[in-house]
Amino acid sequence: MSEETNGVRGRRVVVAGATSASGTAVCTALTAAGATVIAVGTSAEKLDALRDRVPGVRTEVCDLGDSAAVDALAARLMGDRAGAAVGGVDGLIHLVGGWVGGKGIPGQTDEAWEAMERGFRTLRNTTRAFYPALLASDAGRVAFVSSTTVSAPTASGASYTASKAAGESWMRSVADGFRRDAASRTAELTTAATIFVVKALVDDGMRAADPSKTFPGFTDVAALADAIVALWTSPASELNGERIPLTGD
Ligand SMILES: NC(=O)c1ccc[n+]([C@@H]2O[C@H](COP(=O)([O-])OP(=O)(O)OC[C@H]3O[C@@H](n4cnc5c(N)ncnc54)[C@H](OP(=O)(O)O)[C@@H]3O)[C@@H](O)[C@H]2O)c1
Repeated sequence: MSEETNGVRGRRVVVAGATSASGTAVCTALTAAGATVIAVGTSAEKLDALRDRVPGVRTEVCDLGDSAAVDALAARLMGDRAGAAVGGVDGLIHLVGGWVGGKGIPGQTDEAWEAMERGFRTLRNTTRAFYPALLASDAGRVAFVSSTTVSAPTASGASYTASKAAGESWMRSVADGFRRDAASRTAELTTAATIFVVKALVDDGMRAADPSKTFPGFTDVAALADAIVALWTSPASELNGERIPLTGD
């Protein structure tokens, strides 16, 4: 097993949008696997609660929609790993999402678009800011969670799906950047940008709230977390630019 596929132990991973159920599951799994996790969100209260649930996680309040704030956060994180020979951040897991629908195409409001576009804007800001660190790592990984609706858009979810489609396109561009940068250094590709695709996420709280409900095709947040931890056990060449379905049974 190469250094790159040795697992996430000892790696430093930024979880962007970390306080939802999926964020908690991802932070828990990464921490349990031995990673140092930096959890980011806009709400200090939610981050405090996350620290109680996931001991050892480090938290940072940052509006990831604000590119200057993201650049400052990245510069700080890249600079503060004492003695680090590489970029200081080995992983970026982007989980900022949300869903707002509308009644058909005329019902796709500007307000809803603004909320949906936030997912793309934060992805663009974070990948730009952390790109140099990920490239400098000998096992840089960036992941984004997209939706099955990109392959089957609906009128009511047009804004949501448009933002996810933009995110997928952006991630493929990031993957191309990693490929080109490795080739220009005649170096082996060790950095990967990966898209996970889900229909919907489910967690224990949702199941407990409605025990009789089945969640067909939903992906458990624990399965998403496991897939994220496993990014550090496959070579970048198998992950870079890939679109990996994680839809449940
Ligand atoms: N849930 C689903 O069924 C489903 C389906 C398909 C795809 N996905 C995708 O899976 C990913 C995770 O989904 P989720 O439902 O767990 O996400 P979510 O509920 O949208 O969680 C959003 C997270 O992002 C943070 N956040 C929001 N705006 C932010 C900003 N400007 N700067 C920093 N943090 C911000 C929130 O924390 P604060 O409030 O502290 O800011 C929260 O921790 C998302 O990309 C989502 O689109 C989810």
